[in-house]
Amino acid sequence: MAEEMINEKEDLVDPIAEAPGYDQTESLVGIWGHPLHAMSVAFPVALTFCNFGADVLYWWSGELFWARAAIWAAGTAFLFGLAAGATGTAELLLVPGIRIRAPAWTHFVIAVLLLSLLGLNWGYRLQGYEAAVLPYGILMSGFNVLVVMVTGWHGGKLVFDYRLGTSKGS
Ligand code: HEM
Repeated sequence: MAEEMINEKEDLVDPIAEAPGYDQTESLVGIWGHPLHAMSVAFPVALTFCNFGADVLYWWSGELFWARAAIWAAGTAFLFGLAAGATGTAELLLVPGIRIRAPAWTHFVIAVLLLSLLGLNWGYRLQGYEAAVLPYGILMSGFNVLVVMVTGWHGGKLVFDYRLGTSKGS
């Protein structure tokens, strides 16, 4: 009985693993083999943290400088996020072994949610950057920090667990 079950398990084949191009996971969007997505994501991640940091410092000090720093960080986080999203989307659509894996699409969905939140946060501040910080600006930037951490962690999983977008080495 136990032997039969083991044989049955061995017979199970993942249909995705049979697909042509399943093993083609090397990055195609890069400079001399260095993936552009991995290089560009650092900017929106860092700027999202800076946005929250500036909001906290404005709340603590009441200095106008920090409200201005916050709107600049919010805007650049969004714009660099769009650029990083474009490189990631190109990789997703162009590389067959990335395109076929469900976790790559999960990352896309989380990232698009993040980009919408970053855009909303920036747009809200454009109507008056000082008044926007308390309470909604800081609540949004705090939430964005959580979402960017989930997005970055999940992107890292694609690279370190599934080895997507990496080179096969020599
Ligand atoms: C919007 C569409 C996006 C798509 C389709 C996408 C897709 C991907 C893919 C396929 C990878 C695997 C590595 C590669 O092939 O380059 C990856 C990695 C990663 N992604 Fe994204 N991504 C998107 C947006 C974002 C955004 C907005 C962030 C963060 C702000 C982000 C953070 C990361 C991180 C941190 C990695 C790991 C990089 C590394 O450790 O080398 N992604 N993404």
